[in-house]
Amino acid sequence: MLVTKQPIFKRFWYPVLPINLLTDGNPQQFTLLGEKIVIWRDAQGNPAAVKNRCCHRSAELSLGKVTDGCIQCPYHGWRFDRMGNCTHVPQLQAGMISPSYKVSAYGCTERYGYVWVCMGEPLCDIPNIPEATDANYRLIPEFYETWKCAGLRVMENEFDTAHPTFVHTTTFGSEEHPTPDRMELQESEWGIEFWSTLGVTNPQLQQENLKLATNKTVRTMHMTWYMPFTAQLRIGYPNGLVHIVVNTAVPIDDSSSQIVQFCLRNDTEADTKAESVISFDRAVTLEDKAILETTDFDVPLDISKEQHMMTDKPGILMRRKFLALLRAYGEVEQTHSS
Ligand code: FES
Ligand SMILES: [Fe+2]
Repeated sequence: MLVTKQPIFKRFWYPVLPINLLTDGNPQQFTLLGEKIVIWRDAQGNPAAVKNRCCHRSAELSLGKVTDGCIQCPYHGWRFDRMGNCTHVPQLQAGMISPSYKVSAYGCTERYGYVWVCMGEPLCDIPNIPEATDANYRLIPEFYETWKCAGLRVMENEFDTAHPTFVHTTTFGSEEHPTPDRMELQESEWGIEFWSTLGVTNPQLQQENLKLATNKTVRTMHMTWYMPFTAQLRIGYPNGLVHIVVNTAVPIDDSSSQIVQFCLRNDTEADTKAESVISFDRAVTLEDKAILETTDFDVPLDISKEQHMMTDKPGILMRRKFLALLRAYGEVEQTHSS
């Protein structure tokens, strides 16, 4: 499936930018589903997003500046508000601006410390993560980087309990546990829920982070997939520690995704430094990245095109749900060969 060829993906929310990168007056650009967008803060301080192409002579608005809460084109100074309406043309008298002077505007809001954008009529809300506003939890921003792979590969990897033994050899993978002890799957309207128990190892840094004096433990995982490309992994440890990873593979284009990851923990900085938490998760994600960037980004939704095993159940259900979604909105799967 080629995500830029499936218009339905424009109808979901994606966390495109950490909000702290959006300083006053400095627009930012991002490529979402193959389209360049410009993001800035409006007069109220709220993030705004429109197509990064001026309707006059097509210059990139992100090279301009923010004036009176509007984005001002770097070429001839036309200004556009968050609805994409042209509010000022320096070469025209006030009141003479044609309503056709307009650029496409997108849904844009802030949540969990990120700017979320939806390029169409949203099909569902931004994933609800109650721990993000729970005083017992702290939110640690972790990664914001481009991976050369498809979002679906990242999503199914999160739910793949067979890969840690082989991929996470320097972090938590255990040779004694090539399969999980438990796998339970439940479908929801806009995703899936998955419960699993897996024996893992703990290297020194992780033993310190988890306050565990053993190099072996059991991970009890509750995972949620939010269509299309957000995964939440909630890991409970025997000592009561909860570590929640929220990871979105924002679709930049067919072959690349912006990995946006933060975590939530019910401990404090005095217990474990954020830096140490990030350091362990860094090693884990780099192990995944090395493999995922070798996979084919044109992921076939037709399950007869790849081979499968028992632990692939979540990935198979993801494919089925994508196919059902395409069908429900009159689309057919677009691939390199179609
Ligand atoms: S190209 Fe934007 S104002 Fe002319
Ligand atoms: Fe992994």
